[in-house]
Amino acid sequence: MYLRIFAVIWSAILMTSLLFAALISLLDLGPPRDTQILLEMEILRSHLQAFADTGGVEAAQSAWGQLQAAHPGITVVPDPTCSARVMVSDDMARCLALQAPTEARSLLSRLEPMLMPLSIGALISAVLAAGLTRLLIRPLRRLGTAMGALARGSLQTRVSQDLVGLGSEMAQLGTAFDSAAARLQDLAENRRRLLHDLSHELRSPLARLGAAVGLLEKHPDRHGQMMAQMETDISRMDRMISELLTLSLLTNPEQQIERKTLDLMDILEPILSDASFEGEPRGISVHFSGEDRLPMTGDAELLHRAIENTLRNAIAYSPDHSEVEVAARDDGQALQIEIRDRGPGVAPEELSEMFSPFRRFASSEGTKGSGLGLAIAQRAVTAHDGAIEARLRDGGGLILRLRLPKA
Ligand SMILES: Nc1ncnc2c1ncn2[C@@H]1O[C@H](COP(=O)(O)OP(=O)(O)OP(=O)(O)O)[C@@H](O)[C@H]1O
Ligand SMILES: [Mg+2]
Repeated sequence: MYLRIFAVIWSAILMTSLLFAALISLLDLGPPRDTQILLEMEILRSHLQAFADTGGVEAAQSAWGQLQAAHPGITVVPDPTCSARVMVSDDMARCLALQAPTEARSLLSRLEPMLMPLSIGALISAVLAAGLTRLLIRPLRRLGTAMGALARGSLQTRVSQDLVGLGSEMAQLGTAFDSAAARLQDLAENRRRLLHDLSHELRSPLARLGAAVGLLEKHPDRHGQMMAQMETDISRMDRMISELLTLSLLTNPEQQIERKTLDLMDILEPILSDASFEGEPRGISVHFSGEDRLPMTGDAELLHRAIENTLRNAIAYSPDHSEVEVAARDDGQALQIEIRDRGPGVAPEELSEMFSPFRRFASSEGTKGSGLGLAIAQRAVTAHDGAIEARLRDGGGLILRLRLPKA
């Protein structure tokens, strides 16, 4: 684009100059009338001055009498004050003034020499300016229309294809627009899905609470049984809302986490012993291998939630009498915690979906949960500039890997 604009402006100037040169030589154009007269007067003046130098102004005057016919319009008159612009003088300080024809000084005659270059320049620059305007305006108009469409809510609008071939700057602008539109579309879709899932998730406990209240009115004697059910539902909603609040806090890019120097092992150890305790009744053992110290800076509470949610999933979705392996190491560049289980895993296409809020798959059938655990874990890890990824394990099961920057 930059080169194109430069080329258009530069070729406008070059073509105007070339056309001048061509016209001057083709039409055999002479200098403008004004210049001709000035030149003629200058030659005449030096001629007459030669006469004045030898024979005084009388000799110059008589020479002028013979030359007069060859210089129509020019007059030579005595100049007693010696103040004329073009004059001859002799050694007795007597002067003659040379006057140019008055018609040569008219406004039109002054403009006339400029008319031709002006009209040629105007014509060429008009053609090239039209081209340049088209070159600049077309993509801008396309972008403007696209932005209007985006503002009206058509978030699927894309422009980069329409800007192909208009220079790398325009292509960059198109790509930037497309990625901004894609991000907006993603955010809007996520918000829509989150609201849909949230209302769906809250509806069941609310419906149960409504039914329980109705039943209590009819059968006050079943108070004890109903109360227990109601408490379960209320605490479930309470937990879900507090998890949603954490999620929304972590999703806010403006939110800064509180970083303190800590040892990841101090966080991991209590989680490991809780997990062993939780797995025991089902014969699930937790096996740990790795370092003694993993120093880093971060928010202990968030890191605790990330690791705990991931490890609790491994226990929850593992078959009875299986083993969950936890490996922690410093690979030189980052701290890495890997949690491997022998559970059912998920379908390959579900691997990336696992970290979206409210996503639950066949693996969690028959278990209670809201599908927020991994979403929180992922946001907590990314808030520490780390990454979390899931992959299927050879021989069955799932591997979740958390990578966190070292201190
Ligand atoms: N280790 C695992 N093995 C198999 N499936 C898993 C595993 N971890 C997660 N999943 C699948 O991913 C889904 C999302 O997990 P996530 O932890 O976000 O939610 P949840 O465990 O269902 O509910 P909660 O919010 O109580 O944690 C689970 O419902 C489950 O289907
Ligand atoms: Mg979970």
